[in-house]
Amino acid sequence: MPDRIHVPEDAPFTPPAGEAEEVLPYGKKNPFPSPILKNVDLMKAGSEKETIHVELSLEGSGLEYIAGDALGVFARNPEEHVDELLKSLPFEGTEEVPLPDGGEAPLREALIASYDLRALTPKFLKNWQERSDSPTLHSVVESDDRKVMNDFCWGREVIDLVIDHPATFADAKEFVSVLKKLQPRLYSIASSPNAHPGEVHLTIAIVRYESHRRERGGVCSTYFSDRSDGLKPGVFVHNNKAFKLPEDGTTPIIMVGPGTGIAPFRAFLEERRVIGAKGKNWLIFGNPHRKTDYLYEEEFSAMQKEGLLNRLDLAFSRDQAEKRYVQHLMEESGKELWSWLQEGATFYVCGDAAHMAKDVDAALHRIAETHGGLSEEEAVAYFKGLKKEKRYARDVY
Ligand SMILES: Cc1cc2nc3c(=O)[nH]c(=O)nc-3n(C[C@H](O)[C@H](O)[C@H](O)COP(=O)(O)OP(=O)(O)OC[C@H]3O[C@@H](n4cnc5c(N)ncnc54)[C@H](O)[C@@H]3O)c2cc1C
Ligand SMILES: NC(=O)c1ccc[n+]([C@@H]2O[C@H](COP(=O)([O-])OP(=O)(O)OC[C@H]3O[C@@H](n4cnc5c(N)ncnc54)[C@H](OP(=O)(O)O)[C@@H]3O)[C@@H](O)[C@H]2O)c1
Repeated sequence: MPDRIHVPEDAPFTPPAGEAEEVLPYGKKNPFPSPILKNVDLMKAGSEKETIHVELSLEGSGLEYIAGDALGVFARNPEEHVDELLKSLPFEGTEEVPLPDGGEAPLREALIASYDLRALTPKFLKNWQERSDSPTLHSVVESDDRKVMNDFCWGREVIDLVIDHPATFADAKEFVSVLKKLQPRLYSIASSPNAHPGEVHLTIAIVRYESHRRERGGVCSTYFSDRSDGLKPGVFVHNNKAFKLPEDGTTPIIMVGPGTGIAPFRAFLEERRVIGAKGKNWLIFGNPHRKTDYLYEEEFSAMQKEGLLNRLDLAFSRDQAEKRYVQHLMEESGKELWSWLQEGATFYVCGDAAHMAKDVDAALHRIAETHGGLSEEEAVAYFKGLKKEKRYARDVY
């Protein structure tokens, strides 16, 4: 009987032993090897940021999504990074090692496709120091202080330990036993499936930074920017029931999405255009500079001209002496924003969870107090109610 599991060419998926006959639909456990159709730089020359637009094919996968969903992506570690690691380890790279989900592979391939070589945790540090003579590592771990351990981990990866704090392992199997599984990354989908049948689009900010005298890169974002040529990343759809367009197409929507937070709103607007939804659309976007960092400028200008985008407010944070953020624009238009909410608008925010989404939430509360005449407690109750009615939705990360 033929093996009917769809095994992606490039994803780290390995069928669990004994399940080779089972027909698995594509999904997280059986990611679809998705051909990359397009990879476009969204920034103009001179930008300090790197953000790309990626189009992938879902043709033949049976995978379906709706605007608001996210795409899970299994990336691969850079081969040169793994080769550098192997140079400092007493292994050839050809040794068979167990894979996190079962099965075996040669060490080099397992390190590229299946193990996390970036994120360090206190638990990992403890395991490593038991096999290492590094006095620094011993003092960090023996402090038994999570903050000390987390501070040590910040900006370091497995390679830093291999080179600066070497440990002894009985064999390659023991080495991988201290590593964690390489996890898929989620991306808010930037396309409507009705506007682009068989395709899924993403808006990806490339993670690059320097720490401890090494240039670093995020696994998945640099996979798309630097090394995805000819590869088909394993993907799956991650439904996001809490971040959907209102069922009633006449409902007005307010979308706040600075940076890559713009992604699901491109999808929402495309979807509303395709279905001919009559509800008003208000988009608030921000990024450092208008000249270089205005994502999807032509598309949003066209949507404005055709009347799909009723209101478009832009916060270019570094185009003036004082920072200008999306929440500042919200407050400047607080009266109108409050009146849209009174008309029944749904409010959406997408992007940075650590700062932006909190500041946007605080601005909303101030607007309710200033323009709705609510007390602090009433504003809290009002937005709690909106969340319950699914009229205040967040997709933040
Ligand atoms: C629901 C959801 C939707 C998302 N949507 C999008 C989206 O639409 N677009 C998008 O670009 N991203 C999105 N993300 C984030 C995305 O999933 C990844 O987290 C992001 O692309 C980074 O992944 P990576 O593999 O490139 O980086 P990783 O290899 O995961 O590296 C990131 C890690 O590097 C470390 N790091 C980063 N900067 C520094 C620094 N300066 N100093 C020291 N350490 C540092 C931090 O530990 C950080 O966690 C979303 C996340 C979620 C959960
Ligand atoms: N949780 C996370 O770790 C996390 C979340 C989101 C993004 N990122 C990373 O950040 C990088 C770029 O992400 P991105 O393109 O989505 O853009 P972003 O960094 O979120 O920035 C988008 C815009 O938001 C502004 N901004 C900064 N702080 C803000 C605040 N408190 N309130 C409102 N706006 C604020 C930025 O201004 P200034 O830069 O001028 O201050 C910029 O103009 C990527 O590497 C991404 O992975 C990390």
